Amino acid sequence: MTQLTDRLGADVIGQLDSTVKIIAQVAVGYDNIDVPAATRRGILVTNTPGVLTETTADFAWALLMAAARRVPEAHNFVHAAKWKTWLIDLLAGQDVYGATLGIFGMGRIGQAVARRARGFKMRILYHDAVRLPADVEQELGASFASKEDLLREADFVSLHVPLLPETRHLIGQAELRMMKPSAVLVNTARGPVVDEAALADALENGRIWSAGLDVFEREPVIEEKLLRLPNVVVAPHIASASIATRKRMSMMAAGNAAAFLNGSRPANPVNPEVLA
Ligand code: GLV
Repeated sequence: MTQLTDRLGADVIGQLDSTVKIIAQVAVGYDNIDVPAATRRGILVTNTPGVLTETTADFAWALLMAAARRVPEAHNFVHAAKWKTWLIDLLAGQDVYGATLGIFGMGRIGQAVARRARGFKMRILYHDAVRLPADVEQELGASFASKEDLLREADFVSLHVPLLPETRHLIGQAELRMMKPSAVLVNTARGPVVDEAALADALENGRIWSAGLDVFEREPVIEEKLLRLPNVVVAPHIASASIATRKRMSMMAAGNAAAFLNGSRPANPVNPEVLA
């Protein structure tokens, strides 16, 4: 059983004992595992989709709201005994209600984020490699947009893509330049989806307004500049960390391993061709 901090590249998988038949990951993302290398060795890989969807979407919203309304700054301001009086522009932020939300990656978690946005009467744009069926778009109230249109029009950009070669640095200098100066970027997907150095520059130079980040390129190391900027809200990769969801993830991964060892088909195979 593995966690996302366990790097299982082709080199490690190549050295595994031949009795190893399954890698049961306790996470939905499995970019830490070289799945083709596992498949070549006949090793099944499983993950934990579904059980963390709502919890992760909740946290994307926590970061979105915190970054929009400067919650950590306000908290630190009060704690530092800087609050002397009410001021018309004290810690003024960005409105969420009625704004435009742009979602990259409209899978389970992206859709759960979109459902919450409807309560805030937001206009919802999304971009994904695959377009949703029309009835699902309609149910979510979400419109498909090109990457460029989404970046130009969104007040909030939230990332929900898996880390793949095609999504590495999906948000880099060019993309940040397309965003509004008032825009907020939220990343609860994977750190390398964003070029962290380019993001730090954009935040420092006011090219975008703020960011809410749960994931980083070199966890647990964070680009130093990001930690110095007031307009960045950071968390240590905890989007799925509710007590109940972390239990569900653990039980699901254990269930996958147990099913396999008992000769039945695990519920969440990533490379089911190994079972064929
Ligand atoms: C957490 O990041 C996960 O992929 O489950």
